Amino acid sequence: MIRFIEEPNEKKKISREILESLKEWFEVDESREQYIAESEDQPFWAAVEGDKNEGFLCLKETGKQTMELAVMGVRKECHRKGVGRRLFAAAKDYAVRMCYEFIQVKTVKSGVYEDYDITNAFYRSLGFKELEVFPDYWDELNPCQIYVMSLKSAINTISTRHSYRGKFSSETVPEEDLITIARAGIDAPSGCNKQTTDVVIVNDPEVLGKIKEQLDPPVAQTAPAMIVVLTRRINAYRDRCFAIQDYSAAIENMLLAIVELGYQSCWYEGHITDVDRICDKIAAIINVPEEYDVVCILPVGKAEDEFHAPSKKAFSERVRFNSWN
Ligand SMILES: Cc1cc2nc3c(=O)[nH]c(=O)nc-3n(C[C@H](O)[C@H](O)[C@H](O)COP(=O)(O)O)c2cc1C
Repeated sequence: MIRFIEEPNEKKKISREILESLKEWFEVDESREQYIAESEDQPFWAAVEGDKNEGFLCLKETGKQTMELAVMGVRKECHRKGVGRRLFAAAKDYAVRMCYEFIQVKTVKSGVYEDYDITNAFYRSLGFKELEVFPDYWDELNPCQIYVMSLKSAINTISTRHSYRGKFSSETVPEEDLITIARAGIDAPSGCNKQTTDVVIVNDPEVLGKIKEQLDPPVAQTAPAMIVVLTRRINAYRDRCFAIQDYSAAIENMLLAIVELGYQSCWYEGHITDVDRICDKIAAIINVPEEYDVVCILPVGKAEDEFHAPSKKAFSERVRFNSWN
């Protein structure tokens, strides 16, 4: 389990415990003590199994748009179990959510020490790219390799999107951002290019209030804006209707745009299309023409609560090469 740690003394205790167990990488007392001291003010995650801390990771802001993976350590006996990967995923989620654009990490360049070759391979496997080597940054025995990763790539945004059902801040969402999100939706592919999906952006507090009143059980009550997704169930050709596929592609595009712009959302479809037909009540509030159905609402706003990725099946359970077995 990955825990976000806020208490400064707990951060120092965990970082000391882990770094002192990793003397191959953190043998210089002075720099190890510096990592430990600095960790108390940094965003900090610990990987915890029962009552054992398996590893930790800290981030440090190095520029307005850039975070640095300041230090991470995983106990040797816990290597190759996905602990580092899970720690990094949590930290990356956080950096994306806080609207940082890049994340960098420094290590001793490949080809100098075997232990650091493993570290280099690990960072590359996470998606870091080599930026530059600074031979004298630390000292000539430890040439510094800087790796960088863009947090704004489609692949990163996909892996950091999760359904958010917590509280939103009251900060209004600028209209230009709502337009960018809606454009991402209508830019999605559609069967035979029939473009069966339309959206209504709702940011008027009065209209928003009327929609929220219909949401029973209540969801998205604090959202400062909402995208209502409409579909027109027409055939693409012969008797083939692709309206569901069309609006699904549009919704996913909008969810990704929402996350990339630093907001959160959730695909609320089941909730509003059940037997109580909340969708029809929403349609009446926003004057949707008869030939369209409301199928989904996407709240848009800045998250106030912490949230975590839901557990998903293992990659190997769902992805195969060339044949089922
Ligand atoms: C077609 C569809 C309908 C959904 N309807 C709801 C819903 O009504 N309420 C809700 O809380 N989440 C809803 N979700 C979100 C899913 O519960 C969520 O995607 C899933 O649990 C996986 O979590 P993730 O989005 O964080 O990966 C819906 C998702 C899809 C694709």
